[in-house]
Amino acid sequence: MDNVIKIGLLGAGTIGGSVIEVLKNNSDIIAERANTRIEIKNILVLPREIQKLHDAGLPATDNYDDILNDPEIKIVIELIGGIKVAKDFIIKAMEHGKHVVTANKDVVAQFGHELFEVADKNKVDFLFEASVGGAIPIIMPLKRSLTANKITEILGIVNGTTNYMLTKMSELGADYDTVLKEAQAKGYAEANPAADVEGKDAARKIAILASIAFNSRVTFDDVSVEGITKITPEDISYAAELGYVVKLLAVGRDTDSGIDVRVNPVFLNKNHPLASVNGVINAIFLRGYPIDEAMFYGPGAGKPTASAVVSDVIEIARGLTRGAESRFGCTCYHKHPICPVEETVSSYYIRLLVDDKPGVLGKIATTIGEVNVSLKSVVQTKAEHEHQVELVVITHEVKHKNILEAQNALQNLSVVDKIYNIIRVE
Ligand code: HSE
Repeated sequence: MDNVIKIGLLGAGTIGGSVIEVLKNNSDIIAERANTRIEIKNILVLPREIQKLHDAGLPATDNYDDILNDPEIKIVIELIGGIKVAKDFIIKAMEHGKHVVTANKDVVAQFGHELFEVADKNKVDFLFEASVGGAIPIIMPLKRSLTANKITEILGIVNGTTNYMLTKMSELGADYDTVLKEAQAKGYAEANPAADVEGKDAARKIAILASIAFNSRVTFDDVSVEGITKITPEDISYAAELGYVVKLLAVGRDTDSGIDVRVNPVFLNKNHPLASVNGVINAIFLRGYPIDEAMFYGPGAGKPTASAVVSDVIEIARGLTRGAESRFGCTCYHKHPICPVEETVSSYYIRLLVDDKPGVLGKIATTIGEVNVSLKSVVQTKAEHEHQVELVVITHEVKHKNILEAQNALQNLSVVDKIYNIIRVE
């Protein structure tokens, strides 16, 4: 095969290094499938990293212009992460007529609309399969293989760090701080874990998924976000007792009140396909017509992510060799409203510390009944102190605003000493 498509790689970290390896190790099958050989022409890294790449026989530069102004480079892979510089580099690449592949969820979730406009204007492809779920194919399946469907629900375990932590808390009965330290020691959680444990990473991913699934732009700011920092071993143990597992769930639903899009910990029925997704693995479950239900499962981060990046590159190369470019533009044809979080509907788990005396349960039921929250089941548990017991209740489905009112009312009830936690039940 004589023809070659040359690419510029921005960043040579974990995923970048893996992209270099995959292009080398799978070069023959890639050439067959792309209908051309694919070669890295240049790699943009920091000045201090250049020598290391040269020693490994790889090209390297610290000057982006070397890539932008190289007419041989047809595709740029952006793997530097972050927002400002990455966005600027992506736009410049497209303005120079280069197709772009990125794994950058932050940029896509915040500036997808703008980037698609630049791609359209410059008649180039902008692909981002790796931005959600690492190696798991979900963007292209939604845009292509599932495009006959009306998707009504998309649920994801899309953050490996928190899923690892919740899995460990559940297996070992360990508390949040202990598993966070262990996850950091293993390299699964960053020194500053805020983006993961506070749900922001997952929020960016569900913004991207919901935009594609419902054909309407959803940005990071539209997502209601709650992380896992308040989850305790006690909550996890009650969940198990009641037939649930605790998961950080990214939710996108097409409802009559708009797109319900949020990230929050949930009690997930242990029979749900996502309930058995453990450790750093990610999965995305969706429901639609006519497919009914489907789930995509796999590694959500790290070296396997090169699978998604290189597959996007091959997709573009196929188009280039067949003269069919710019096939996957923006698919947000509508502007649906976002359902305010107060209007979203769930069952809830509420764990309380209450006085251990006759009539308390009745008082609680009446109080929350006054704000239209009704009880589905009640578990009374061990005495915490001599005159107090822990009470766990599961409510019927209610609007979130009613639960906030119920929380307020319970706080003002003299028989309620403490509200430990309130968690949605899926
Ligand atoms: N920090 C993410 C996770 C991986 O824990 O899944 C990158 O998106």
